[in-house]
Amino acid sequence: MSKSFIYIANWKMHKSYHEAITWCLQYKDELVQLSTRNTVAICPQFTDIVELTNIFKNTALKIGAQNCAAYESGSYTGEVSAVSLAQSGCSYCIVGHSERRIYFHETDDTIMQKVFILLKNTLIPILCIGETAQEKEQGLTFKVLEKQLYGLRSPSWNLLPTLPTIIIAYEPVWAIGSGIIPDHNKLETVLLWIADYVSSIHPCSFKILYGGSVNGNTSATLKKLAHLDGFLIGGASLDFQELKKIVL
Ligand code: PGA
Repeated sequence: MSKSFIYIANWKMHKSYHEAITWCLQYKDELVQLSTRNTVAICPQFTDIVELTNIFKNTALKIGAQNCAAYESGSYTGEVSAVSLAQSGCSYCIVGHSERRIYFHETDDTIMQKVFILLKNTLIPILCIGETAQEKEQGLTFKVLEKQLYGLRSPSWNLLPTLPTIIIAYEPVWAIGSGIIPDHNKLETVLLWIADYVSSIHPCSFKILYGGSVNGNTSATLKKLAHLDGFLIGGASLDFQELKKIVL
């Protein structure tokens, strides 16, 4: 039997509320079918979460958010708390996507705070890490990844009731939306490095995804990489046929 993978659709700020609902209703049966052997989650805009969790209630298809507050609750106008995401039916939450690091100036410390708040609220964090083109050219890839993962050493693990699972999504910034896929041997080296690093520093179970220009043509060979557990998919996840091609 072939390996089962995790497929996370990151819809970013694409698809309006109405478009998201229409799309999910149109492809509901097929989406549920795709999630029987694999983990499939859709991460829409915040406004769509409740409606989408209702559409997929009692099915294997999961819903995730794209961000959450770094605080539990309080006077933080415009923020969305992890506890509310959990109560809305979310199972996953993406944190530290490069677009949030670049456009919204999120720091590694803030992102790690989000990881622990999500875990406290029994959501699975999808922690995005990855180097820019310039950092890659300067040979800084592993240094950057180490800095982004360093906070996992935090003593906050001791505050969690159970040993959690986290998902790490390696998304080289230069591969996102560019159509460029990393050389597979180099990618495998990075995935192996992440697996070694994370298992050496903290006590949770983890999965490793790759993200950046994954589509129906590039996914098949990527799936052969030994240390890959799945994909974080942007643009291609907006088109059902393309998403299906990636999963199948
Ligand atoms: P892409 O985006 O698949 O469109 O490259 C991936 C991401 O930003 O998560």
